[in-house]
Amino acid sequence: MNGRELLIGVTGGIAAFKTAALVSKLVQAGAGVSVVMTRSATQLVGPKTFEALTGRPVGVKVFGRGAHPHIEAAQKAELFCIAPATANILAKAACGLADDLVSTVYLAFDGPVLMAPAMNTKMWEKPAVKRNLEQLRADGVIFIEPGEGRLSCGDIGAGRMAEPEQIFRAIVQQLGKIP
Ligand SMILES: Cc1cc2nc3c(=O)[nH]c(=O)nc-3n(C[C@H](O)[C@H](O)[C@H](O)COP(=O)(O)O)c2cc1C
Repeated sequence: MNGRELLIGVTGGIAAFKTAALVSKLVQAGAGVSVVMTRSATQLVGPKTFEALTGRPVGVKVFGRGAHPHIEAAQKAELFCIAPATANILAKAACGLADDLVSTVYLAFDGPVLMAPAMNTKMWEKPAVKRNLEQLRADGVIFIEPGEGRLSCGDIGAGRMAEPEQIFRAIVQQLGKIP
């Protein structure tokens, strides 16, 4: 991981707190990690958490720090991993919407994209969500499938974000394919 440059996107799922553990693991493994978040994600985990873990500013706004924050973030990274990926970002990415920093970076980034979806079971099973997943698979997005278990809303079923360790391994595996 030493010297590798990663970009992590955090969207508004309760599993965002687990992404802090993922980012910590990546940094400890020697990677340079930048984080972009949606506004919803910042309701669940503060950008300061990711700033402290990465030692870098966290991007939230399209019209934020830098001349073209979305281009600068996309150009620097070798790999973009969105964890958790909400139903909303799956829908936006599937149809090419770019109305915030995470979705705009997704379009501006031309390297491998990993997504770790997380949502309530009923959302995960919705035909619209399944269609968006299929579209993104066809577009080349690599999915780290959610597991089954107890969800934060109390339901038990599919939709729990993959564990940080599993996402870490998927990232390492993808980096191995990049010269
Ligand atoms: C406490 C809480 C937890 C949420 N968890 C999820 C989730 O796990 N997955 C999901 O798709 N949406 C979840 N949502 C709803 C999203 O935050 C909402 O759809 C939002 O518009 C997503 O925006 P974003 O994709 O720009 O982050 C949650 C909302 C709240 C209030």
